[in-house]
Amino acid sequence: MFDRPSSGERAVLVFGGEAQEDAVKSELRELALSAGALPVAVLCSKRLHPDPRFFIGKGKVEELMALIQESAAELILFNNALSPSQERNLEKALNVRVLDRTGLILDIFAQRAQSYEGKLQVELAQLRHLSTRLVRGWTHLERQKGGIGLRGPGETQLETDKRLIGRRIAQIQKRLDKVDRQRGQGRRARRRSEISVVGLVGYTNAGKSTLINALTGAGVYAADQLFATLDPTFKRYALGSHQHVVLADTVGFVRDLPHELVAAFKSTLNETIEADLLLHIIDASDPEMLATIDEVERVIEDIGALEVPRIKVMNKIDRLEVPRPRIERDERGQVIEVWLSAETGQGLDQLNEALRELFGQTTVTRDLQLGPTDGPLRAMLFRVATILLDERDESGGWRMRVEGSPDRLRFLERRFGAADLSQWIGPDASVVP
Ligand code: GTP
Repeated sequence: MFDRPSSGERAVLVFGGEAQEDAVKSELRELALSAGALPVAVLCSKRLHPDPRFFIGKGKVEELMALIQESAAELILFNNALSPSQERNLEKALNVRVLDRTGLILDIFAQRAQSYEGKLQVELAQLRHLSTRLVRGWTHLERQKGGIGLRGPGETQLETDKRLIGRRIAQIQKRLDKVDRQRGQGRRARRRSEISVVGLVGYTNAGKSTLINALTGAGVYAADQLFATLDPTFKRYALGSHQHVVLADTVGFVRDLPHELVAAFKSTLNETIEADLLLHIIDASDPEMLATIDEVERVIEDIGALEVPRIKVMNKIDRLEVPRPRIERDERGQVIEVWLSAETGQGLDQLNEALRELFGQTTVTRDLQLGPTDGPLRAMLFRVATILLDERDESGGWRMRVEGSPDRLRFLERRFGAADLSQWIGPDASVVP
């Protein structure tokens, strides 16, 4: 069952611009419900060029006014991004609170953030979003406190002036930098102990938390709610009797994830960039699956994690007509997908098998030519690979032959610059089964 309040602020959903697909409509509805609102009416405007004052045309504003009266709505939720002045003009004309998609998602995040870092990140995003909106004119709604879009850590800043906000932003940024440094130390410690990190990414509600719980028995909050988990969790997961990896859960993604949020959650998302492998969790029973895959891949690209090897985990196969747990491979035999159900446990063995294969069973041998300034890389190689040959050459560099797990070596390639790769990876690199 949905863990949601049965009644909330009554909201009218507005879709502007080109004809919106049903999926887009139902997602705004889900977001509204997740924020605790109760959608009571819908208004669509097909106008292609947004009106500078109200976004929608004047006729539509009147229609909206009538809808508000009729449905006793207290809140208007726009699927589109509104400019600060459009938001203000609409609020003045309609005398109810108006929120765009970004404001709505920020509100949900404000409700969900649990950890110190999560709260700081949401506050930062809220303040950045609000700072452009904090101009004279906010007072028209100042008595409505604590409703959707007005709560969370940023609430007390609403009436403060921009200078104070700027100062607060700098302060939060400083604290976040500190948390980020500590997080970096954690990452380095994991690196030193040579535990591989598997980052879980996916569209919100795809089943990341359920999968972590199924694999590790950990009590990670899983709910049929958008963005149920905001804070990253790290759990140890045994691949076999000798080997562990760390599973890192991160924030779920959503279509048009507000840019303020991607920026604010950068440090959490960094866990993803630094992972040795990404599991992209996909709800295989979702008719909108392909669109959600694109969306997640776009964010992966945005945060610079395209280079991290990744496999797709096609989850919720218990909802498919023929639930067939399996590993799918490409023409070279590399794992590309694992089909499973985190809820019923079908396919978890296959996932384990795929991870074991990726993290240990195969090794790669590479011949490298290191220059005189490649000392740090050489030191790293000694830590993560078996050195089969290590000779000084006439230029002051080293000729090396190393053997190691493919993901470790790939990580080094990323870390030490893919541009120089051709110089130090010989053409005779070979894979040893
Ligand atoms: P966010 O916190 O929004 O990022 O979500 P999440 O990806 O962590 O999803 P979560 O694990 O909270 O699961 C979302 C919903 O999907 C819950 O109601 C789960 O019970 C359900 N679910 C997860 N895996 C499966 C599955 O294999 N089969 C079925 N039928 N439902 C599943």
